[in-house]
Amino acid sequence: MSEIKIVKSCAIGKIERTVFGSFIEHMGRAVYGGIYDPSSEYADGNGFRKDVIDLVKDLNVSLVRYPGGNFLSGYDWKDGIGDIKTRPARLDLAWGQLEPNTVGVLEFDKWAKAAGAEIMMGVNMGTGTPKDAFELAEYCNYPSGTYWSDRRREHGTPDPLGIRYWCIGNEMDGCWQICSMPALEYGRKANETAKMLHWLDPNIKLTVVGSSGSGMPTYPEWDRVVLEQTYDNVEYLSLHKYYGYPDDDESRISDFLGSFTDFDAFIKTARATVEYVKTLKRSKKQVYLSVDEWNVWHTGACDDPSRWTVGPKRGENIYTAVDAVLFASLMMTLINNADSVKIACLAQLVNVLAPIMTDGNGKAVRQSIYFPFWAGSHYANGTALQTFCDCEHYVSDPFGDVPCVYVATAYDEQSGEISVFIVNNGDKEESCNIDLIDFGKLSAVSSERLIYENLFDSNTSQHPELVRWGKVDMPVSHGNGKFSVVVPPISFSVVRFKEKAENPRKGKN
Ligand code: AHR
Repeated sequence: MSEIKIVKSCAIGKIERTVFGSFIEHMGRAVYGGIYDPSSEYADGNGFRKDVIDLVKDLNVSLVRYPGGNFLSGYDWKDGIGDIKTRPARLDLAWGQLEPNTVGVLEFDKWAKAAGAEIMMGVNMGTGTPKDAFELAEYCNYPSGTYWSDRRREHGTPDPLGIRYWCIGNEMDGCWQICSMPALEYGRKANETAKMLHWLDPNIKLTVVGSSGSGMPTYPEWDRVVLEQTYDNVEYLSLHKYYGYPDDDESRISDFLGSFTDFDAFIKTARATVEYVKTLKRSKKQVYLSVDEWNVWHTGACDDPSRWTVGPKRGENIYTAVDAVLFASLMMTLINNADSVKIACLAQLVNVLAPIMTDGNGKAVRQSIYFPFWAGSHYANGTALQTFCDCEHYVSDPFGDVPCVYVATAYDEQSGEISVFIVNNGDKEESCNIDLIDFGKLSAVSSERLIYENLFDSNTSQHPELVRWGKVDMPVSHGNGKFSVVVPPISFSVVRFKEKAENPRKGKN
């Protein structure tokens, strides 16, 4: 039996819509063969797959980071503008593939608008210069009458794109990055770039590169050094984190499911580093966290051995039901850190480490991780509340103490809805008492769950619904905001309640 207590006044922080962002990189089949495939029967007039756009809209993705990733650090955005017929093909050193530059900034902007998402644009800090970054921002956001803004107008887009979110580079701490560099060097370059971008457009929000994982030898010193150089000129510190089975051993399910505790520690360490630098600088300004790459990533993800082809398979991870349960815990960790995490991007969106897969035959398929993201992006509205959960714990070899039942809560003051997200990491069914304190009269509105038969089930175009989302038994009400639910072993559920409107005549004679 687990005892869950949620107090209306115990807020963590506002859950920003930008926490339900995602990521499209020019990697593998994310762009060519993913969002863009003029040969597909589902292609629209611009060559974009309409079935993919429909799923992205249904997924309620708020913002999409673009164009990379590792690809960013060798990318010249000027190759992807103007007449498509004269755009150069380039060798992409990040992923060993051919980049035809058919999709560039303006094509992607069209796609993002059709998908209802904002762009979070990356500027190249590897082979790129602060000047290249500034010129890209001028091309995108400056209205007219300058060299680059007039090029955009000539290219058929009279209005500025109004891109608000910008990433200054990608994973510059990693030896795999094109032109990686030490923290001080990157920090100085990023700071000068940030100054130029803010002078061009004071309204844009800038993310500086933090550690690309807690396993990096420079972690967490990198974050301190970079922040010391850039604190006054940026709004977010970026973090990246992926989890797979410890030692690639698929039998270590409970260790794998415990990874979210490490994710929580990673986020809290970054937050502490931000606070340290803020204090050091005697600053009143608050820098927040942008977890702009997070997901489950198994080393067995399909990588096509071919080199220098357009849209080869790269990082095509087939997600199982158990992956979706850990994914849910990772997403709930973002919610439980809503006071510091203000942007997050599920990496990625289509085909590469993705909730949406295309295989060329038939409609795009929703992978298992689609469903927890869908539940979060639709139900995690308003304010994250602290959730107290008294339950059994287990010890995971790499991560230590793990609660069997992990909970996050969102309270939407406007609609009066309370969504309680529950993961059962344990291997037995669990009865949970939920005590919603100080909310007044409540009714349960829905109970929904990730549904699957076997832990290693995954969806394919032949069997697109083996893992799915569905309604389950409503919680039992015991009065006074007390309810109980039973959650199956290794499961992810959302139980939703609503405050009953006060009788408008109450208090009148
Ligand atoms: O998302 C795939 C890759 O993972 C990105 O290109 C890179 O930033 C990270 O290492």
